[in-house]
Amino acid sequence: MKTPQARLEVLYTAEQIAERVAEIGAKISHDYAGEHIILVGVLKGAAIFLSDLARAITPDCTFDFVAVSSYGRGMHSSGVVKLIKDLDHSIERRHVILVEDILDTGLTIGYLRGLLLQQKPASLRIAALLDKPARRLQKIEADYVGFTLPNLFVVGYGMDYAEKFRNLPNICLMPPDAPE
Ligand code: IMP
Ligand code: MG
Repeated sequence: MKTPQARLEVLYTAEQIAERVAEIGAKISHDYAGEHIILVGVLKGAAIFLSDLARAITPDCTFDFVAVSSYGRGMHSSGVVKLIKDLDHSIERRHVILVEDILDTGLTIGYLRGLLLQQKPASLRIAALLDKPARRLQKIEADYVGFTLPNLFVVGYGMDYAEKFRNLPNICLMPPDAPE
């Protein structure tokens, strides 16, 4: 049976991703040695990255998740960010790492950072698996980045196109002529 993903070009293999996630995990483990970290994942795209990253981290850590309004069904953002699921627990005086799949225009992370900072965490850093700096509309950078990409649309390893392809183990390129 020929699956749709068989036609998608692979940009990063599962092995390359695992290697990079292990490197980021080691860096975080070093930076937060002896501390307790709260990993805050942005649903749904960051779920797979967070679950792998968490297992590459040695200091104590707990998880929380937030969800923001949909990016839109296709490849284009509405530019409007709205919180649809808040944190379960307070992050006041805690060390927080916001875990996101892609830092693209920066609007999502910029909005979430502002929101989390209102709770006065002890520290707040950002881990993004992918960074597309050329697309930035809001000046914001991640502290931990997996891979830096040009302006390409990707799917797999948690990332979707119209909610599909999140389960692909590789990160694949979505052709620009895909239907919206
Ligand atoms: P930003 O607010 O433009 O930075 O949007 C970031 C969000 O847009 C990410 O969390 C993804 O959900 C989504 N996104 C941006 N680029 C891509 C992509 O290439 N593939 C899938 N989702 C993307
Ligand atoms: Mg997302």
